[in-house]
Amino acid sequence: MAQRRILVAVSGGIAAYKIPELVRMFVRAGHEVRCVLTPAATEFVSPLVLQALTGQPVRARLFDAAEEGAIDHIALADWADLLLVAPATADVLARMASGMANDLVTTVALATRAPLLLAPAMNVNMWRHPATRHNVATLLERGARCVGPGTGLLACGWEGEGRMSEPSEIAAHAELLLGARDLAGKRVLVTAGGTRERIDAVRFLGNRSSGKMGFAVARQAARRGAEVVLVAGPTSLPDLAGVRRIDVESALEMRDAVLAELPRADVVVKAAAVADFRPAQPAAQKIRKEELGEGRGLAIDLVQNPDILAEVCAQKGKRVVVGFAAESHDVIDSARRKLARKGCDLLVANDVSAAQAGFDVDTNTVSFVWPGGEVEALPPLSKDEVASQLLDRVSKLLEDRS
Ligand code: CTP
Repeated sequence: MAQRRILVAVSGGIAAYKIPELVRMFVRAGHEVRCVLTPAATEFVSPLVLQALTGQPVRARLFDAAEEGAIDHIALADWADLLLVAPATADVLARMASGMANDLVTTVALATRAPLLLAPAMNVNMWRHPATRHNVATLLERGARCVGPGTGLLACGWEGEGRMSEPSEIAAHAELLLGARDLAGKRVLVTAGGTRERIDAVRFLGNRSSGKMGFAVARQAARRGAEVVLVAGPTSLPDLAGVRRIDVESALEMRDAVLAELPRADVVVKAAAVADFRPAQPAAQKIRKEELGEGRGLAIDLVQNPDILAEVCAQKGKRVVVGFAAESHDVIDSARRKLARKGCDLLVANDVSAAQAGFDVDTNTVSFVWPGGEVEALPPLSKDEVASQLLDRVSKLLEDRS
């Protein structure tokens, strides 16, 4: 494993005493390590010990002229290939979840584009508190990873969940996250979510896409070092760290955004559920029932939207272009025909009728369909795992073409 840069952010919990051992593991594995501490953490672990182990100055204060002079907090945030917060106390998780930057650790966490690994440690009741559950869920949704906490006797005397994972386990997770940087220097354009097609001032035609699959692709591509642009239809999903997001509403807006970004892209992944039709003439104002007449239905003329994926494929050049196909029946044959019709390099066929697949769930069951007709059927996986399998294939295609 090539040497990587790990920024260890220590917050103020008793488990901080295990951090020197963890730092030694990283150093022994050949990594460059720097440590930042919250002011409270300095009560639990000696900055001098961490400085001796890392061979680097340790920082604990945000507004310290001498410390900022040596390496400023933004340079630290940029320097890191991985930010590990260990131990992550309930307090630091809460501040990070709400985007605060009121000490050096939270400021660096907000400024960095590096993947974030959390190793929580706290009293079992604090861990189970709805506030902490919510904060952890928020951070995970934004792309952070979490190792532990484990169960056992806690320093506070309680027994239960809340022990920081052992250094060896944290180190193993860190290595996983540091793993592949195979998309560094590549520009990846991802579309996600469904589009909305205006009927009138208050109504639209939409579909059930949550955007989760496309967001997982964007998150994983960023994690692997790519510069990612995410064109997203309306969704409740939060922004992703290190991903430039362009929000759009209709298929026509999505098309404009995609075509504008296309010249810079090396890879295009079209996970969006683009509406195939839009009302031919959306009404500027709300259509009222009384205007239609009592009991009368409403006929809406629909026209076809442009096929964005086909347009992208028409000017593909050396790009790798991946399409998705949501099918409810005749999945593989239809996907094969779709792939041939659109001309993409790989099609991810999604059986939306299967359990644990499709709309608004975190898992998916897909098959990769290749231009030669070969099919790779994947088992049910998390959408992040599907994304990372997909990017393995993309990475290989890029390599073959270079
Ligand atoms: N797609 C697109 N523009 C459209 C319709 C679809 O770019 N107007 C893309 C989707 O993002 C997806 C792929 O085409 O990557 C397949 O979408 P899907 O809805 O499964 O296929 P359609 O081409 O719409 O065919 P049909 O609905 O008839 O199955």
